[in-house]
Amino acid sequence: MDDHTSPDCGNFVRPQTGLLGGDPMEVINTLEVKYAQKFYGPFQAVKDINLTVEKGEIYALLGHNGAGKSTLIKMILGLVKASAGMIEIEGLNYDAKNKEIKKRVGYLPERMNFYDNLTAWETISFYAKLKGITRKRCEEVLEQVGLREAEHRRVGTFSKGMQQRLGLAQAIIHKPDLLVLDEPTTGLDPIGILELKAMIRNWNKEGTTILFSSHNLNDVEELAQRIGIMNRGEMIAQGSLAELQDRLGLPTKIKIDLAVIPVDLEEILVGKRIKTFQLEGKTVSIDCPKDKKTQVITAVMDGMLKVLDLRLEEPGLNSIYQNIMAE
Ligand SMILES: Nc1ncnc2c1ncn2[C@@H]1O[C@H](COP(=O)(O)OP(=O)(O)OP(=O)(O)O)[C@@H](O)[C@H]1O
Ligand SMILES: [Mg+2]
Repeated sequence: MDDHTSPDCGNFVRPQTGLLGGDPMEVINTLEVKYAQKFYGPFQAVKDINLTVEKGEIYALLGHNGAGKSTLIKMILGLVKASAGMIEIEGLNYDAKNKEIKKRVGYLPERMNFYDNLTAWETISFYAKLKGITRKRCEEVLEQVGLREAEHRRVGTFSKGMQQRLGLAQAIIHKPDLLVLDEPTTGLDPIGILELKAMIRNWNKEGTTILFSSHNLNDVEELAQRIGIMNRGEMIAQGSLAELQDRLGLPTKIKIDLAVIPVDLEEILVGKRIKTFQLEGKTVSIDCPKDKKTQVITAVMDGMLKVLDLRLEEPGLNSIYQNIMAE
């Protein structure tokens, strides 16, 4: 990796800590990526990415096919050499502490290849031996990923979802601090997806920081505390759902169920300074700027309309993603 004084990475210099100056209380993030770039010949797959994942966070990478998610993930894992920039895991970089980092990171690749002739048990034992891990822990991880009953079957006979579970088992067997999952729900059935989400939440509760990529917006919305959206190698937006919503200025939908629809509904609403609304049955939907919610609700509830019920719908990741990609 080029060092961080390369002009390509904006002369980034890591702040000094401890006795040498800087803030001695500085928290070391689990993952820090600064100005990371990757060229494949003349093609730039990753462009000046900055990304921080704090300890204990679940962070999701989103983006169309070919956006650069897997390339960035492989750079973070030290499997693809960055053309420029800086990547640190728990304050360590691959140039100096490659082996140490590998002990702290677990990885489920996009496509995992196993030896078809080995059983699940033999496969996991193989990874365990490499990492100096006990038999008891092998049993524990196979149990966690739901493969205990199939552990003596050959992996060649496994369904895609079972292979994915085995991939997860090898990723967590050494209890990594940072777990990186590249499209972990691919190939899982709906129950498998629910189970995987529960596993991710559990590992996270036990202290594992998680970075994952996905095309499934519902999974991302449910699991991730922060989201990074990539497009053509660039990180085009980052933040929590609320932060992304704020950035885009997306409205909140207020849905009001009325007992009766007055003939002069439009006039009444315009009188309350509500100019655009949709009516479906007896439900009025109003797109309301986030900071005007209370004003609109107060106006609607002033007694002129017979309100039965009222709901707020914040924009989901679906509309946030579509809006960001259209910017
Ligand atoms: N080894 C390589 N040599 C040349 N180009 C590559 C290589 N690996 C990836 N690329 C290119 O880099 C770009 C980013 O690919 P990447 O696999 O990182 O995308 P992705 O966001 O993971 O996509 P997907 O959602 O389909 O998995 C693509 O245009 C891809 O063709
Ligand atoms: Mg990918």
